[in-house]
Amino acid sequence: MATTTTREIPAGRVAELIKGEEERFRSARPISHRLWTEARQVLPRGVPSSFQDAAPQPIFVDHGKGSRVWDVDGNEYVDFHNGFGVMVVGHAHPKIVAAVRSQIERGSHFAQPVEDVIAVARELKRRFHQPKWRFTNSGTESTLDAVRIARGFTGRDRLIKIEASYHGHHDALMISVEPPPDRMGPADHPASVPQSEGIPAAIVELTTVVPFNDLAALEKAFAAHNDEVAAVIVEPAMMNVGIVLPDAGYLDKVKEVAHRHGALLIFDEVKTGVTIAPGGATERFNVTPDLVALAKAIGGGLPCGAVGGRDDVMAVIEEKKVAQMGTFNGNPLTMAASKVTLLDILDPNAYAHFDALAETLQGGLDEAIGRYELPFHVITLAARGGVTYRARRVRNYRDYLEIDKSFSYLSWLYQGNRGVIMAPGAEENWTLSVQHSTDDVQRYVDNFAEMARDLRQ
Ligand SMILES: Cc1ncc(COP(=O)(O)O)c(C=O)c1O
Repeated sequence: MATTTTREIPAGRVAELIKGEEERFRSARPISHRLWTEARQVLPRGVPSSFQDAAPQPIFVDHGKGSRVWDVDGNEYVDFHNGFGVMVVGHAHPKIVAAVRSQIERGSHFAQPVEDVIAVARELKRRFHQPKWRFTNSGTESTLDAVRIARGFTGRDRLIKIEASYHGHHDALMISVEPPPDRMGPADHPASVPQSEGIPAAIVELTTVVPFNDLAALEKAFAAHNDEVAAVIVEPAMMNVGIVLPDAGYLDKVKEVAHRHGALLIFDEVKTGVTIAPGGATERFNVTPDLVALAKAIGGGLPCGAVGGRDDVMAVIEEKKVAQMGTFNGNPLTMAASKVTLLDILDPNAYAHFDALAETLQGGLDEAIGRYELPFHVITLAARGGVTYRARRVRNYRDYLEIDKSFSYLSWLYQGNRGVIMAPGAEENWTLSVQHSTDDVQRYVDNFAEMARDLRQ
């Protein structure tokens, strides 16, 4: 943590800066605004996914190349959003373009296996120590399949999930993702709150919620549901409420507790997989779960997901006890992009590059935070990282709720107005790519330092 001394930001200063930045933001994006207005006539909220509708208005993108994207108004950005953590290869990487072009000329879809599925599965096995794999098309499908496999293997229905972890948009896990404070229940015994209308109460009841980094609460949940729990699913480092790191030894203990009760441990590595280390959180925290769900960065920009697991667990598919399928699973274009991503692009040099960029970010941001005595801190994990707008470490959702979200919104506007696009939302963090340079990340640091200075004026 960077600062030893921090001072409060004067009341009203953030709101005043936001007002000016919003005006500047809107005035430079009239075409995006027009397209958004048109889109709202045919798409609810004017966007294809509700995550893309963010204040003050969505940015319609024209194209991307390398570490940069250009919007329809001609604004150029260093891309720190990287498609919600997908584009660690950067945009239009020549090797991806060549692999996809070569495959599309030979056909884009057969729904029959292609040879590349073997190379991709072998490489995932090497990185994540899971012997068997199946492919999907998204993180949602990967966690959905992991849950079904766990239920099929154990013959049990109940799931335990962490409060404020997001695992995609299927019913079983859209529970207590960001529950409103008036419904979330006590800190050591959170309520199960559906994220959306349309989720049957019977499904909500099957998902028990516990706080992150709290083994006592986990033990209590198991005690209350003895012999009922199929699996505990965790994001090993939470990445949808900023970044929340596991306490030392926590993940190991979760595995031990789950196994003691006959349940499986599922890691949702949709965000951490291949971004925070070659073998994701499994490698970085040295804990191998029973099942792992992957997506995002493994596909090099194509819609790819994967679920991997122990031999005996994945045998439920072999034995036709659990159905795992999908028309587009192992699609040839996706597999071609995934193969080149995993075997040719994300090599040891790529991870050394991420670490060097992370060091520049950490050093530069710590310096600005210290200089302006701001109550913030920075977390970097190879290609992933972010600023937490709180002096003390966040250990769980209840800590996260104490953060004033207007700082992250202000930061998003400052960066956007000065040529860095961030993923929208207070909870988001950055993703770097192999095509980012030191100058690219310095732009983020300089923008942050400007905001820090202005907050003190
Ligand atoms: C940890 C985690 N799991 C699962 C998902 C769902 O992935 P997708 O949007 O590809 O369905 C996400 C999406 O952001 C995620 O962050």
